[in-house]
Amino acid sequence: TLAVVSAWRISGLRQVVRYWYCSWMETALANEYRRICHDPATHQPLAYLRLRRAIRNIVEHRDIEPGQALPSERDLSHALKLSRVTVRKAIAGLVEEGLLTQRHGAGTFIAERIVKPMSRLTSFTEDLRERGLRPRSEFFERVVGEVTPEEAMAMNLSPGTLVARLHRVRYGQDEPLAIERSVVPASVLPDPMLVHDSLYEALEKLGCRPRRALQRLRAGSLNVQQARLLHVAVGSAGLNIERRSFLDDGRVVEFTTSWYRGDIYDFVAELHTD
Ligand code: GLP
Repeated sequence: TLAVVSAWRISGLRQVVRYWYCSWMETALANEYRRICHDPATHQPLAYLRLRRAIRNIVEHRDIEPGQALPSERDLSHALKLSRVTVRKAIAGLVEEGLLTQRHGAGTFIAERIVKPMSRLTSFTEDLRERGLRPRSEFFERVVGEVTPEEAMAMNLSPGTLVARLHRVRYGQDEPLAIERSVVPASVLPDPMLVHDSLYEALEKLGCRPRRALQRLRAGSLNVQQARLLHVAVGSAGLNIERRSFLDDGRVVEFTTSWYRGDIYDFVAELHTD
């Protein structure tokens, strides 16, 4: 009997916590939604797009943590005085973007993974900030040296050209997410110490932010050193990305090889028929 009573108590307690959490989230969402409706700068006449923005804002401001459940469609439509069709449409768009995930029969959740749209030329720092995460770099190397034959080929440089080399681990909220080795011609970046957390910020200041890039993605498993730096088991899945970025005049501005942790990074590309 005691076991039955305590099981009942625990499940009752869980229900209370869940109820409290859902009503707290409903209130946070409703407040953000109302704020957007009354914000003259928003100019968004469509309710489902306003709701989409409200959900995105509270996720990006980390008012809701990844993995948490969203209140049900019915509760949301009741709290926000919107039709269920509107709520469903708002949620569907965010599921498609990868910000929310749906598990059959279990409901809608804030996605755990970092989703990176592939067609925009953005930096690591921008991608993370967009997701409400704090980016940071830890450098192993920031030096100037002569280009290697492989780099010279990839960057279309002549032998002997000087390049700046950066080798670093990229963190989000103090969690290691990627290892990157970047090579930039010294004619563009004469002093690699100018790069603090973001390479693209430094290039922007020098008037040399990349305008176009070619990127190659490969799957692989992380070796001992990479796994140690990324705090995962040796042999874990990794995404190997090679990016060559160009300036408007066609000069290569960076050649970066990255290893992203396969367990938390998603690359999403929008495809068109023509
Ligand atoms: C991504 C790209 C790299 C690029 C980097 C710049 O990680 N894969 O090719 O060098 O962004 O990011 P940041 O400006 O944060 O250093």
